[in-house]
Amino acid sequence: MNAPAASCLIEPDRLRARLGAAAQAFALEVLPECESTSTLLLDRARGGAPSGSLLVADRQTAGRGRRGRQWLSSPAASLTFSLLWRFPGGLARLAGLSLAVGVALVQALEQYGIAGLGLKWPNDLLLDGGKLAGVLVELESGPREVLAVIGIGLNLQLPPTGEGEFLHPPAALAQVIEPLPERHHLLAQLLIALADVLGRFDAGGFAVLRDEWQARHAWQERPVRLLDELCAERAGICLGADRDGALLLRTETGVERCFSGDVSLRRA
Ligand code: BTN
Repeated sequence: MNAPAASCLIEPDRLRARLGAAAQAFALEVLPECESTSTLLLDRARGGAPSGSLLVADRQTAGRGRRGRQWLSSPAASLTFSLLWRFPGGLARLAGLSLAVGVALVQALEQYGIAGLGLKWPNDLLLDGGKLAGVLVELESGPREVLAVIGIGLNLQLPPTGEGEFLHPPAALAQVIEPLPERHHLLAQLLIALADVLGRFDAGGFAVLRDEWQARHAWQERPVRLLDELCAERAGICLGADRDGALLLRTETGVERCFSGDVSLRRA
């Protein structure tokens, strides 16, 4: 006799019911544990998994963040999932995708009446200056399409003090909503917003979402420094993102467009 499947915090049927008509956009799978939902989904994507494939895991043993960082999370305290989306055409069309994902997340959470949400270039969701969620977008291009694995980690509860090293102090939904939204309801709202935003992005690129991003940009007109992959540092006033998703930095020599790096606030 087969052992019964381990139960997970997300039950696919309950999630489908919450998704309503949007359920058809997703192929759901939930796991009690995996190394990383993004690593596993990338593997599945290479094997032909359909657009809309969604992997939700209670626990990740090797969660990954941007730029090779670790992503630490624990089951009850977070929501961790990855979504595969296939876009026809070439890589250039996907400039600004991670910013578009941020717009979807913030719009979904705004429905709970949360104040203090903001977006930080390129893909952090902030709550009162702390990091509420991280987005990891990984792209692979084929002859006719680009596949995007969009990994999202959302903090429901604050991690215990002393756990992990953070570029930003962490923030959690529990700091601002009591009781927390029901987990299936919350994930469904995030997925419905993602399906809508990804559809609009597919049709018009980041340009059609830029105003929505700018309106929620946490560091507009603030002094920042940008550290790029080569550790070159640039300082200036942050003007948000352009139509291609590049960061606009007003420096002494004019407005520069930046395509990669980590931005931090500079003390005035
Ligand atoms: C960041 O560095 O801010 C991005 C963090 C992304 C974490 C999520 S959790 C679900 C998915 N699986 C991973 O291994 N990483 C992403």
